[in-house]
Amino acid sequence: MRILVTGPRGFVGARVMDELGRDVIPAPSLRAVDEESIRRMVDEAQPDLIIHTAAMSDIPTCENDPVGSYYANVKVPVWLARTGIKCVMFSTDQVYSGCAGEGPYAEEETAPSNLYSHHKLEMEQRTLDINPDTVHLRATWMYDMPKYGVPNRGNFLVNMLRQSDIAFSSTQHRAVTYVREVSGWIRQAALLPGGAYNYGSENNLTMLETAEWLKARLDLPVRLQDVGPRHHLWMDCSKIKKHGINFCNTVDGLQKCIADYAL
Ligand SMILES: NC(=O)c1ccc[n+]([C@@H]2O[C@H](COP(=O)([O-])OP(=O)(O)OC[C@H]3O[C@@H](n4cnc5c(N)ncnc54)[C@H](OP(=O)(O)O)[C@@H]3O)[C@@H](O)[C@H]2O)c1
Repeated sequence: MRILVTGPRGFVGARVMDELGRDVIPAPSLRAVDEESIRRMVDEAQPDLIIHTAAMSDIPTCENDPVGSYYANVKVPVWLARTGIKCVMFSTDQVYSGCAGEGPYAEEETAPSNLYSHHKLEMEQRTLDINPDTVHLRATWMYDMPKYGVPNRGNFLVNMLRQSDIAFSSTQHRAVTYVREVSGWIRQAALLPGGAYNYGSENNLTMLETAEWLKARLDLPVRLQDVGPRHHLWMDCSKIKKHGINFCNTVDGLQKCIADYAL
């Protein structure tokens, strides 16, 4: 099976590349493409599957560049879907950022509250209209240790290891997920029927409790503070579990990462 991966040097894309080994074809950068060049890229690569990880994924960057966000997060995915090749695309738990209830949120309860999540939800809807076989994986905030040769980005684990003071909410329910689990389930995710799926760890702790757990587990010198109430982002992952995709819960995922890196 030939699998084209977009964003192959990104945080998720680089781990997906590791996971897929020799089946993988790294896509060139999609920062300055049009529909015609996407078609040419796909004609040349002849993939059976596209795993789309490239995106403008930083919320403030999207707010400051709405045109760029729409291009990266809606237009490019629409052009990929129009090639007719089955696509697995990364979406986000931010689509729940304006939900009225406390959560955990199931797939149909979306209420985006920032531009990034509005664009991601539009991406989901438009690409599913074009190709109902498209799979959207709504990811949580993901973490890993830095990877050699790949740009590093701040994440829960690295921030906890590096920073001296961090604030999290003592009321916010939200999961963080070990990105190696995200890449580890990717072949199975490609077999899912078209639709949107909550794809990551669950968490029965608040973010501050999660951070306190990690601080105690690794005996970290970091000082933790409470930022006050934040909107919940926790996802109900029962839909993917029915398809045999079972992530560790947040604490077990952190334990796995700690063991993998002998931290
Ligand atoms: N990281 C997280 O915790 C997180 C959480 C929830 C959802 N997600 C979603 O998961 C996917 C992967 O996230 P990630 O953290 O791996 O992303 P990332 O590392 O920030 O970016 C992935 C790749 O996207 C490409 N890219 C960046 N800006 C672009 C733009 N303006 N136009 C087109 N391409 C652009 C870059 O590739 P080139 O340099 O080759 O152009 C980059 O390597 C995204 O869809 C993201 O929204 C991520």
